[in-house]
Amino acid sequence: MRILVTGGAGFIGSAVCRRLVLQHGASVINVDKLTYAANLGSLVQIEGLPGYAFEQRDICDRAAMDDVLASHEPDGIIHLAAESHVDRSINGPADFINTNIVGTYGLLEAARAYYDRLPRWRRSRFRFVHVSTDEVYGSLGPDGRFCEDTPYRPSSPYSASKAASDHLAHAWFRTYGVPVIVSNCSNNYGPFQFPEKLIPLTILNAIESKPLPVYGSGANVRDWLHVDDHAAGLISLLQQGQPGEKYNFGGDSERTNLDVVTLICDLVDSMSPGRESRRSLITFVPDRPGHDLRYAIDAAKARCELGWRPARTFEQGIAQTVEWYLKSRAWWEKPRASVYDGARLGLLETQL
Ligand SMILES: NC(=O)c1ccc[n+]([C@@H]2O[C@H](COP(=O)([O-])OP(=O)(O)OC[C@H]3O[C@@H](n4cnc5c(N)ncnc54)[C@H](O)[C@@H]3O)[C@@H](O)[C@H]2O)c1
Repeated sequence: MRILVTGGAGFIGSAVCRRLVLQHGASVINVDKLTYAANLGSLVQIEGLPGYAFEQRDICDRAAMDDVLASHEPDGIIHLAAESHVDRSINGPADFINTNIVGTYGLLEAARAYYDRLPRWRRSRFRFVHVSTDEVYGSLGPDGRFCEDTPYRPSSPYSASKAASDHLAHAWFRTYGVPVIVSNCSNNYGPFQFPEKLIPLTILNAIESKPLPVYGSGANVRDWLHVDDHAAGLISLLQQGQPGEKYNFGGDSERTNLDVVTLICDLVDSMSPGRESRRSLITFVPDRPGHDLRYAIDAAKARCELGWRPARTFEQGIAQTVEWYLKSRAWWEKPRASVYDGARLGLLETQL
């Protein structure tokens, strides 16, 4: 199979590219604009292999998308390219509207034109997997979990832009018959994540003995899923998902942010002992505006219909992740020094 992956130089996209090439023997065309969040160092394991091609293109450039599809003739698309950080969406929503909504629209249109030209036998195999987030569902209280028919109630500019793109993806199936499948996944963690989000930022600050910011009281709950388990789920959607359907992926691993940060402190202490416990670096900072309290996913549909389940517990995955960051300075030192140093993002002017 030949799969076009958008956003393949990002955190989840690079895991999908590596898995497709190394474990499935697939050919991959990675289409990525190389924004601040991209790191081609995440792809060294597959760079130069005959099954892997890279195209530095913007998904908002419709002619470029037509060109890539016509020249590589993929059997499917896994669409991950996006602006992905909630805090950045609070400071500057424009890029999120542009890439996540307008870019997805352009890609769906390019895919429709390409799909309509395919011979029937190739059309029956073609799939467009649109990758989205559980944040489209908004916030849960202390009970309940999101399932596929939970109404959309996005809170942030990021989640609103993803919700809009999900609706476009569904509409392109219902109206034009493009075989689109939508996935909504909980928070991912693992190696190769740009160090701006909670887990990699906490690990690197703990390694460097810098303050460990915890928003509000740290009581917000996320349902953590290892990136390789998510990548496996996305590939199973490509192979077995039903066009027009949506699937939730989650790790059954709800943790408060404070519990996650404390666990990372203890892991860094045990793997790289310092003078004092990293727990002393925990610093409570003003909360994110509109911060959703709790996310939790009911992944029963993916388990039953795809036979998918996470291959590791959160405790196993987070220990492996901390170990990876400790051993992978060459991957993170440059972006940390030149792209993003960990400064607080996402506060309103009234909070400064
Ligand atoms: N990270 C999570 O926890 C999570 C959870 C659920 C869903 N998602 C979704 O998964 C996808 C990937 O998330 P991620 O965390 O890997 O993001 P990321 O920020 O690490 O990577 C995004 C990639 O997209 C590329 N990109 C951005 N704009 C582009 C454009 N206009 N054209 C081409 N490429 C562009 C970037 O260069 C980058 O390589 C996103 O759609 C996100 O909404 C993420």
